Amino acid sequence: MNRLTRGRIRIRTILALVALAAVVGAAVSGCGGRQAAKVIKIGLIAPMTGDVKTFGESTKNGFMLALEEAGMKVAGFDIVPVLGDDRNDPTESVNVATKLATQDGVKAIIGSVSSKCSIPVSEVCQANKVVQITPTSTNPRVTVDQGARKTYVFRACFIDPFQGTVAAKFALQTLGARTAAVLFDQANDYTIGLANYFRDAFTAGGGEIVAWEAYSKDDVDFSAQLTKVARLNPDILYLPDYYTKVNIIAQQARAKRITSTFLGGDGWDSSELDFETMEGGYFTNHYSAEDSRPEVQAWVAKYRAKYGSTPDALATLAYDATKLLLAAIEAAGSDDPAAIRDALQAIEFDAVSGRVFFDADGNPIKAAVVMQISGGDQKYVETVSP
Ligand code: PHE
Repeated sequence: MNRLTRGRIRIRTILALVALAAVVGAAVSGCGGRQAAKVIKIGLIAPMTGDVKTFGESTKNGFMLALEEAGMKVAGFDIVPVLGDDRNDPTESVNVATKLATQDGVKAIIGSVSSKCSIPVSEVCQANKVVQITPTSTNPRVTVDQGARKTYVFRACFIDPFQGTVAAKFALQTLGARTAAVLFDQANDYTIGLANYFRDAFTAGGGEIVAWEAYSKDDVDFSAQLTKVARLNPDILYLPDYYTKVNIIAQQARAKRITSTFLGGDGWDSSELDFETMEGGYFTNHYSAEDSRPEVQAWVAKYRAKYGSTPDALATLAYDATKLLLAAIEAAGSDDPAAIRDALQAIEFDAVSGRVFFDADGNPIKAAVVMQISGGDQKYVETVSP
């Protein structure tokens, strides 16, 4: 054996020992007590505080109930929820989403609630390859931007071209309305979108929009707009905003003796809606707790037992969105967001709010309900299928 050969053998021996040490080391650390659990972090973004905080409370309730029901486990992972409050502010929603995606390392986000927050959140999720399912944001631009699909972004609800059309047809056909006034927040994606879709469908169906009045987010005095509405006396006053603003506008409208029927969208769905002022009004929504389907009644009972109140559409859709995500992670058998995204796109899922499967834009095709404000509560009127 010459010196060169001896040298090679020595090197091989050293390499073998290093490899052996690595294997033994891994085995020892793996067996030392409980094996370290694999963890998947799932984010929630909702307005827990601010002008629409009942939306955040309901959304968090639905999200947590779905996770607890799964025993905080999915596909062999321990679920770690990471909660974020965007206060219904688009700038804050971007801060929260960026922190969840880049610092906390979440693989998926449920949220946000309002379209004006979910749209900027979707940009963060798409750029960072994090799956997003908004339970409730209905503006088309959440999942698609100028024809380009944001491939990591989905929603658990219908979209506003449908919701606005349902409201317009209900006004024309069921209420026999011919004229409508529309008041909308000119800087809120949800409000302006829904106002436009309502107007298009109402005029296409032979109705006339007699007043088209914009306002700003911080406005508290609507006398200019409402003086005009009072003079024109339309059959319908369409108010496609969230409950806080709708309460103020409706109170001022009644003070001006406007007798038009109030009509609105899912943004009315809150325990803090002014039921007295809104009495007799109608709004379109995602689900009714009066629905006799066994899945719905089981859900309502479960929610009441835990939280002591009837689940609104926000709680229901947050529960549905979270269950959808867990089903997709299970189907993917992985925490890789690209695999979860592919599983979601292919999924068919029986949610409380109806069967969910996604079209090419990440939108489920689902029915809407019309609800009436009556006797201090909301009552089911009818279901409209797409
Ligand atoms: N659809 C509303 C939006 O896009 C959010 C919302 C949904 C509010 C359901 C209340 C109930 O901004």
